This record gives sequence, C-alpha cells and structure tokens, in this order.
Amino acid sequence: MKILAIETSCDETSIAIIEAISDTSIRVLSHVVLSQVAIHAEYGGVYPALAKREHAKNLVPVLEQALREAALYQAGQTVMPDNVEQILEREPDLFGHFTTFLEKTAMPGIDQIVVTQGPGLEPALWVGINFAKALAAAWNVPLTPVNHMEGHILSVLIQEKTDSEITLADITYPALALLVSGGHTEIVLMDEPGKYRLIGKTQDDAAGEAFDKAARILDLPYPGGPEISRLAEQGLPNEAIKLPRPMIDSGTYDFSFSGLKTAVLYLVRDLGGIEALSDQTRADIAREFQHAALDVLSKKTLAAFTEFSCQTLIVGGGVSANRALRTMLQEKLVAIDPAAKLLLPGPGLSTDNALMIALVGLFQIKSGKIPTTDFAAEGRLSIVNE
Ligand code: KG4
Ligand code: ZN
Repeated sequence: MKILAIETSCDETSIAIIEAISDTSIRVLSHVVLSQVAIHAEYGGVYPALAKREHAKNLVPVLEQALREAALYQAGQTVMPDNVEQILEREPDLFGHFTTFLEKTAMPGIDQIVVTQGPGLEPALWVGINFAKALAAAWNVPLTPVNHMEGHILSVLIQEKTDSEITLADITYPALALLVSGGHTEIVLMDEPGKYRLIGKTQDDAAGEAFDKAARILDLPYPGGPEISRLAEQGLPNEAIKLPRPMIDSGTYDFSFSGLKTAVLYLVRDLGGIEALSDQTRADIAREFQHAALDVLSKKTLAAFTEFSCQTLIVGGGVSANRALRTMLQEKLVAIDPAAKLLLPGPGLSTDNALMIALVGLFQIKSGKIPTTDFAAEGRLSIVNE
C-alpha cells in the first residue's frame, strides 16, 4: 500500500510517499521538503499570507518531484472530476497549476492520501487541505486528516532515512513525549498507540519561539534556534550573566518562556546595549539562555517521566534538533533509569516534514480510522482525543 502525505501547516511545503511493507516496516519512496525559511527571514518570522501564497505556488511542483523520485510519475492524462473546481475555488492559482498537471499526468497508483489538518497557521493549512481534497477526487483515493503534533511524536519512528526497507523504531508504553517547536511546547503522555493525554504546556511563548526571540535580541538571523545553539557552544560560564529558570519549581508540568525572553532583553540593556557587547559576551548570553530553557524543559520532562512510570521518552519538534538538549536528556534519563529508551527524530525530521505525517497516516489506517473529505483546517487542533 502506498500512502501520499501532504504537510503545509507552517513554512515548509512537503510531500512524502511511503510504501507500507509490513506492520513494522516501510519504504520511503520519496520525501520532498521545500522550505520557505529564506523568504520569511526578512520579516523575522513566518508571515501567514505569504506562507499560503508560497504553498499554492509550490504544491504542484513538489508533488511532481515526489512522484518522479518515487518512480510513480507517468505521462498521460487524468480526467478532472467536476467538483475539483469547487474544491479549489478559493485557490485560483493552485487550480490553474493543478489543471495543467492533470492534463499531462497519468494516475500514479496511490492508495491513500493524508494531510495535516492542524494545528498550524490556518491559511497555510487550508491550501494543503484543499489540494489534498482535489487530489483525492481526481485520483478517487481515500483521504484522512492528520494531527501535526502526532506527526512530531511519530517522527521518531524513523531513526535513519534510507532508500531500502526501514524497520520502524519500537515504542514501549507508556511513553512520554516532549514536543518543542516554534508554535508548541507540550508534554504528552502516550498510554498506547493513538491515545494521548496532555500533561503540561506553555502558558505563553513556545520554546522555539523563545529561541527565536532571544536570537533577535542578540542580533542573530531567523530562525534563531540553530543560531543560538551554535553561538552557545562558544560561550563560557560567566558570573555576570545569569538568567531565570521560569516556573522550574512550580510543581506543575506547565511552562512559561516569555519572562525568559524579557530577562535577556533587560540583561542586554543593563550591559550597555547589543552594540557594546563583545562577541564573547554575546556567546556567554546565548549559552546561559540555552541552559535556562533546557534546564526547565528537562527537569519537568523527567519529573513527568518518573511520575507516570514511563518506558520510552520521545522528543519531537524543531527544538529537538538542539544538540545540547539531546545530550542533557540522555544523561539525565540514564541517571534515573538506565533501561529507559530515548527516541529522537533522525536527521532532517525534527522540523516540519511530510514523512512524519505519512507515519501518522499509516498508524491510522492500521487502527481502522474511517477516511473522510468532510473536514476543515483547525489552527488549534488538540492532540487529546477525548
Ligand atoms: O517544528 P518546527 O519546524 O515548526 C513548528 O511547527 O513550529 O520548529 C521550528 C522551531 C523554530 O523556532 C526554530 O528556531 C527551532 O524550531 N529550532 C531550534 C533548533 N533548530 C530549530 N531550536 C533550538 N535549537 C535548534 N538546533
Ligand atoms: Zn511542527
């Protein structure tokens, strides 16, 4: 069975095609990720209307590339059903590209389409969803909506992306997931596959957002997470540079990162402003900021891991690419339970991608979820099923 997945929740246009081989193994036939980061960098963040326009422009070329890489592209013609024009009535540019595409392409033998329904930027989500509905109609293939955060959790199933058959990583339950991205910071308990409980979340900024904002104060480009992490490696312990660990002793699994960002702002101001700082001082601030954020994330995550007697710790989302976070969690997890397993996304799978969406689709099909084309984008879609 071949599953095609579409992801457009934020600033990556991504399509993956996987083939399910058995219950525990797949083949990745193709995975295309087109990042808009360079376009949004100018604005210092993601600009929703621009993201939507870029998705509309890129979806058909990305689809064509994904089909070609999967050796599923075949010249020919696909008859456009009457309802496609209506499905894409709010995406005139996309409709034009799609019409041209169908006129020159044969049906590729996809068995199932899945698409990110939310959470994310609604205008961006809608383009992907409308495109998925149009494709499902044109190819007469079932469609299933997918939760993006569930994608970040299941992204750890692929430890290394190769062209050959991949055995999916084994999750032992209960598992705990720390989800850290530009829009979310959540601790999720997974009692069994597909069953989630939200244990804690941020009350204000997400962890990735805090990295991005601190980076801006330090005059680093967007996205700030990788920049801070690089600069932090050159930082040294510095008595004059101390930042708070917000809510670290709150006794809850909730987070707050906006105060940490403000503390960076005041610290830089008190040191005479960004221009007055030496490169070493800037690196020392990046180091202390990263420490502060990671101290809070790791302390709460491991406390929850212990309280709920978990067996597997999963970390997903853009910030899970952070090397210092990976090392810190590994060390602390071994100290509390040497038998516990830490699962991190493989290279390129921390940030947004359609491969993780395909994996959710695979699990949903296995669990018998009924396909539907009757759904809307949900910017604030929750991962909790009850
Ligand atoms: O999951 P993601 O690609 O998009 C959302 O769904 O939000 O996460 C993007 C976030 C950005 O805030 C970015 O700065 C952060 O992940 N990020 C990092 C690192 N790489 C990406 N944060 C810290 N360290 C990194 N190495
Ligand atoms: Zn994401």
